[in-house]
Amino acid sequence: MPPSLATFLASQQHEPTVARLAPALQHIAGACIAIARAIRQAALTGSQGLAGSDNIQGEAQQKLDVISNELMIEAARRCPQIAALASEELDDIVQLNASTADSLLLLTDPLDGSSNLDIGMTVGSIFSLLPATAGSVTTASFLRPGHEQCCAGYALYGPATMLVFTTGSEVNGFTLDEARGEFLLTHPQLQIAPECSEFAINAANLRHWELPVQRYIAECQAGSAGPRGKDFNMRWVAAMVADVHRILLRGGVFLYPRDARQPPGAGKLRLLYEANPMALLIEAAGGAASNGSERLLDMNPERLHQRTGVVLGARNEVERLASYHLSH
Ligand code: AHG
Ligand code: MN
Ligand code: MN
Repeated sequence: MPPSLATFLASQQHEPTVARLAPALQHIAGACIAIARAIRQAALTGSQGLAGSDNIQGEAQQKLDVISNELMIEAARRCPQIAALASEELDDIVQLNASTADSLLLLTDPLDGSSNLDIGMTVGSIFSLLPATAGSVTTASFLRPGHEQCCAGYALYGPATMLVFTTGSEVNGFTLDEARGEFLLTHPQLQIAPECSEFAINAANLRHWELPVQRYIAECQAGSAGPRGKDFNMRWVAAMVADVHRILLRGGVFLYPRDARQPPGAGKLRLLYEANPMALLIEAAGGAASNGSERLLDMNPERLHQRTGVVLGARNEVERLASYHLSH
């Protein structure tokens, strides 16, 4: 029997960061189990479809976006170490518990890939923890570069419910044992190969991409007869969690590039609760993550909900695209 999340965390207590993070991870894992259940039952409980509201980015919220957000807030509130939370579904931060020297800040995309919900496809939750700084927590407390994250991960709601996270040095994947109601370590120490022959991008946006991205994808599509000298395969789940999960398990590169749409140069994905957590995971697994040309984890955020281009996965592919940007 593989170790449970609780056993795994207990075995890592000698690592000061893990000792500090363990209660928060257990509470987040509990929220993810509750979200998985809400998704699985949605057609039976009337929880499919639109909530009738928009989030701050003007996206129509689904009922399950709202439910998942509430489940994540409730779980975080029950964890005394989590001082405050920022979420894709909330305009502003929420204060939860008194801030002390050991406190943490939680950033979350409580439901990623919402357009997959009502068609029975895979979705996920994304989370990131920052060490709180001394004093009162404000929005500015969350505006820190991704390399300051002390933990990041996601839950995958697919054929199995999985929890995958890093505390910086390695990436471990756990599968929910439904009978026991706990996560078991099934995918220890995930690693991403530096080379790959599979890319993920929404090709419907080709006309909006910057020229280096157009060049990169055209060369992949040219296959063995083109400059890359090999055939590539393409996949697009439309839930970044699922695309990143595939890359952690069998390699590849994922792109949601900044493009010519409004606002200029922004891309679609949000830096603080989508791009940065995935970048920490991908780097911990030996891959690379950039905004196209620069390391994502070194970007200095200016706003809670700011967007960024995202290119992550196999190190050599991420570096190749950055070199196309440089030479352009
Ligand atoms: P969210 O559901 O949290 O808004 O995120 C969806 C994101 C991301 O998960 C996915 O990769 C991308 O949007 C899909 O975008 P397209 O609709 O352009 O395929
Ligand atoms: Mn998302
Ligand atoms: Mn979301």
